[in-house]
Amino acid sequence: MKNTQPIGFIDSGVGGLTVIKEALKQLPNENMIYLGDTARCPYGPRPAKQVIDYTWEMTRFLLTKDIKMLVIACNTATAVALDEIRQQLSIPVVGVILPGTRAAVKASKNQRIGIIGTVGTINSGSYEKAIYSRVRQADIYSLACPKFVPLVESNQAQSPIAKKVVAETLKPLQNKKIDTLVLGCTHYPLLRPIIQNVMGKDVELIDSGAETISEVSMLLDYFQLANLEATNPGTLACYTTGSTKMFNEIANDWLPTQTVQSIQIQLGE
Ligand code: DGL
Repeated sequence: MKNTQPIGFIDSGVGGLTVIKEALKQLPNENMIYLGDTARCPYGPRPAKQVIDYTWEMTRFLLTKDIKMLVIACNTATAVALDEIRQQLSIPVVGVILPGTRAAVKASKNQRIGIIGTVGTINSGSYEKAIYSRVRQADIYSLACPKFVPLVESNQAQSPIAKKVVAETLKPLQNKKIDTLVLGCTHYPLLRPIIQNVMGKDVELIDSGAETISEVSMLLDYFQLANLEATNPGTLACYTTGSTKMFNEIANDWLPTQTVQSIQIQLGE
């Protein structure tokens, strides 16, 4: 294994770019490859079996690019496919749920924690299980927000309609006295200012994807896989199964680099 080999990132669409953003900051030497399955997004409402199949298809594509580590930058896919993929690959495989859990447990003072995510992630109960196994007496309030991902994928995260949808959706969490809210979907950091505004400044928002990069950084050191000798910044190659135009617009708006030129690929049949 060469340290210059890329790290692979997968998501159902553009959401994993929130993880890439943190990776560019914390791991600027690393070469990275990103694949967003935009054509089949959202994964959130799909049955677990289908999400597992799609996640494998993305994984197999990235394995052809000789990745040294795989980051499942999608909570929905992490919830149902992480264990299986980790067992079958010989490279380290990292998901986003445990890093988000650890950060939430660390941040919360009153142990009243909210979790928002896709229907798939919330129904899997993965965050609850992970939090309860660490803090048995925690009060956890979970809420599926199926309207959020389509807003982000259509580049409407800053629109007035987004403000309205977020405010209406988060109402059930507002009287729960939570001091910490886990953004349990990698698309949600793109809605962060609106979510923060609705929840109020005293609620700490946890960006699971960003937390994941600290774990990736630690694992690169542990497995002696970090690209430490690099003289130039690492490269970022992006692939999407959907429109490259929309992908590039969102990526170049969100990431500090303005040079993303994604390549379209096809997965499945
Ligand atoms: N970004 C994904 C997540 O973290 C999934 C969004 C979706 O495809 O529904 O769960």
